Amino acid sequence: MEIRTLEDLFIDELRDIYDAEHRILEGIEKMEEAASNEELKEAFRTHHEETQGQIDRLEQVFEICEKSPEGEECQAIRGHIEEADELIDNIEDEEVCDAALIAAAQKIEHYEIAAYGTLCTLGKMLGKDECADLLKETLEEEKNTDKRLSALALDKINERAAA
Ligand SMILES: [Fe+2]
Ligand SMILES: [Fe+2]
Repeated sequence: MEIRTLEDLFIDELRDIYDAEHRILEGIEKMEEAASNEELKEAFRTHHEETQGQIDRLEQVFEICEKSPEGEECQAIRGHIEEADELIDNIEDEEVCDAALIAAAQKIEHYEIAAYGTLCTLGKMLGKDECADLLKETLEEEKNTDKRLSALALDKINERAAA
């Protein structure tokens, strides 16, 4: 799609993250299966559900903007998911694999935080307050997921120190 205006950019970025969320939905399922730690599994399970809700929210935004959600491919998240798959396939040690899954998931969350942060700003600039509010809700979920993953990584360090 040709991008001339801020509105075009907003729609293009929305389509990028819409594609990304679908890839993440699949990716998280695999990460949940690959995780050994119960709390980590639970974190992936929760975020899988949230991701479905985030896709629904994006569809609401597209409806408000009267645009179709399809048309972009998110190469960046495709790469991140591929890297996560490689880690899953190549690491045998459970503890090391969990640590790798946390690292891979946080890279994805940081991408999403950047994307939704930009989208909130663009939405506000364009006077699309309802869209900006919906996107802000998702932004908060992504930030909370990132924090939860950081906390899990810290717990692991503490467990090790105590052992
Ligand atoms: Fe997401
Ligand atoms: Fe996420």
